[in-house]
Amino acid sequence: MNQRNATLDDANRRLQDRLMHVSRLAAVGEMAAGVAHELNQPLAAVANYAQACERLLGLPDPDLEEIRDALRQITAQAVRAGDIISRLRGLTRPRDSLGELTDVNALIRELADLIESDARVHESTCRFELTEGLNPLTLDRAQIQQVVFALVRNALEALDECPLGVPREVVIATTRAADGDVLIEVRDSGPGISPDIAQRLFDPFCTTKAAGTGLGLASSRTIARSYGGTLEHRPNLPSGACFVLRLPSPARR
Ligand SMILES: Nc1ncnc2c1ncn2[C@@H]1O[C@H](COP(=O)(O)OP(=O)(O)OP(=O)(O)O)[C@@H](O)[C@H]1O
Ligand SMILES: [Mg+2]
Repeated sequence: MNQRNATLDDANRRLQDRLMHVSRLAAVGEMAAGVAHELNQPLAAVANYAQACERLLGLPDPDLEEIRDALRQITAQAVRAGDIISRLRGLTRPRDSLGELTDVNALIRELADLIESDARVHESTCRFELTEGLNPLTLDRAQIQQVVFALVRNALEALDECPLGVPREVVIATTRAADGDVLIEVRDSGPGISPDIAQRLFDPFCTTKAAGTGLGLASSRTIARSYGGTLEHRPNLPSGACFVLRLPSPARR
């Protein structure tokens, strides 16, 4: 009987390995299709603008201002393609350094000026609710700041959708979970996650924005997981979205 169970366990494990392999391949395929699609746009634009420059330069009296405009577009599109590639790298190579012992509240306070000025641009207010007495964590601080900033950016971009007169607020809060983990929450009073994409929110290239890459949440989740943590979403009450980054306490890592 025991031998039969062991054989079944073996078979199950092999099946699981095969399924994992297939799902990884499917993920790679999906990813490659997404990258191809995303890069195609800026590359096609670069080719078009370059052709336009060549045509303009062939005219007897070329309009230099028009050519300069086309060259600026080429630069902008090349920068966009580069940005997509560098953010993709964040998905596969999440950690450069081992990190240092960090006070999460201090890391957020360092960002406060930047967040406040960004909030002003989006005609929104931001509030910090930082709980003292959090466990210090070994982190790459720039990387966690990048995640917080990506979440705040999303919140402010969502608040842009609010009709005038509706309060536009982002709250950045830290708390200590019962098991000692550190929670960083970013809540907004915007329209909340569109039901169309709720299931795919963390998938690379999932975006509802004309100029979005859809890599912000995907790379933020990769970073969270590289610390043994999580990044989840829940609706905020009475309206809006709330993203929770959970970073495990040293005792649990
Ligand atoms: N706070 C939020 N409120 C409402 N929708 C949100 C919020 N945060 C994210 N989303 C939705 O999730 C999608 C994916 O977000 P993500 O940050 O991954 O990409 P993006 O913001 O579209 O692009 P990028 O981060 O490159 O600018 C967004 O396009 C938006 O539809
Ligand atoms: Mg984003």
